[in-house]
Amino acid sequence: MAHVDPSGKAFPTLLNDCILRAARGEPTDFVPVWIMRQAGRYLPEFRELRSKHPFFEICETPDLACQVTLMPIKRFDLDAAIIFSDILIIPQALGMEVLMSGKGPEFPDPLKQDENLEDRLDFNVVIENRLSHAYKAISITRHALEGRCPLIGFSGAPWTLMCYMIEGGGSKTMSKAKKWLYQEPGKSRQLLDLLAEKVTDHLVSQVKSGAQLVQIFESNAEYLTLDLFREFALPQILKICSNFKNRLQALGIDKNSVPVIVFAKGGHYAMDDLTKAENSIDIIGLDWTMDPLSVRQKTNKCLQGNLDPCALYTNSLELTEKTRQMLNRFGTQNYIANLGHGIYPDADFDRVKTFIDNVHSISRQMNSSK
Ligand code: CP3
Repeated sequence: MAHVDPSGKAFPTLLNDCILRAARGEPTDFVPVWIMRQAGRYLPEFRELRSKHPFFEICETPDLACQVTLMPIKRFDLDAAIIFSDILIIPQALGMEVLMSGKGPEFPDPLKQDENLEDRLDFNVVIENRLSHAYKAISITRHALEGRCPLIGFSGAPWTLMCYMIEGGGSKTMSKAKKWLYQEPGKSRQLLDLLAEKVTDHLVSQVKSGAQLVQIFESNAEYLTLDLFREFALPQILKICSNFKNRLQALGIDKNSVPVIVFAKGGHYAMDDLTKAENSIDIIGLDWTMDPLSVRQKTNKCLQGNLDPCALYTNSLELTEKTRQMLNRFGTQNYIANLGHGIYPDADFDRVKTFIDNVHSISRQMNSSK
């Protein structure tokens, strides 16, 4: 990882490296835990700030993004922070308009099959310049964390970004985006290649400015078939991972020092392929429908997940039992605890605290009784 910010100032000494140790397969005293969407609408302090600022203004203002990133860190004993941003800043950087309404993201002018991609997208955009605010946010946040825990950077994977750019928002079927894959495979590949290039740039720039781990969100894996995944999604993810690591090495950053998490939501069918992707993927994320025992049989790689976000609606006793069950299934080593997808806006933050504290205390007990 980078030890100095882009201005040459040394980052604070890391005081809790548990998640990095787990990612590297080194022994840990307890299981590290973070939560997808941990800096979001379930926090009253986020809702308050959000009532004063549009969503993308927060993303584009380093001090605000830093403030939001730290909100859950101040409240809970988390083992990682994730920079406040969004996967959709890449389509924005390519020239697409994205609005964030109460109902989620909306593209007023999504891509159409009969348009030339060159006419719609800025193929030559220099991500490092165009998204400089996001990198500034990462640098100041890594300083502001004062070494309490590592900072995660992230990006959407090409297929998931392509879905939003074509569907114009959420969709139950992704049938418009899938129609491209079936009817316009060449154009689909052109778009996916462009996205892979810009996603790689984005991940490298995040690490240069201070991110210590990165997660690639393939949140829309669940809509693909194994064949489509193998043709259009996996090769892009693997290309990103290996180019990312080679680019870090070329910059003088040890390529093994920045673990890559790949979270392919709904990608049951892809678990064999993902677990076999030696070297480039360090950590595989599991959603709540996936069975940790069967994935553990396939690989010694570090796994991440997968408590049902709705388990936070149970009482605290039952939540403790569910957490214990999860730890028993994954084991306490080579493992990062998380939910199986992002936390919901109506989650109770007392339960969130129970979940995080239980991961630590139960895993410590399990380790000491071995
Ligand atoms: O984890 C964190 O706290 C860091 C920030 C983060 C956000 N989005 C902030 C956000 C991260 C990691 C993301 C990733 C993201 N964004 C994904 C991949 C993860 C996943 O959920 O599968 C996706 C698909 C998006 C696109 C996106 N952004 C959607 C679909 C939505 C609406 C749904 C929702 O949860 O609200 C957003 C909006 C968004 N991104 C919010 C936040 C805190 C809420 C918007 C608001 O404040 O109005």
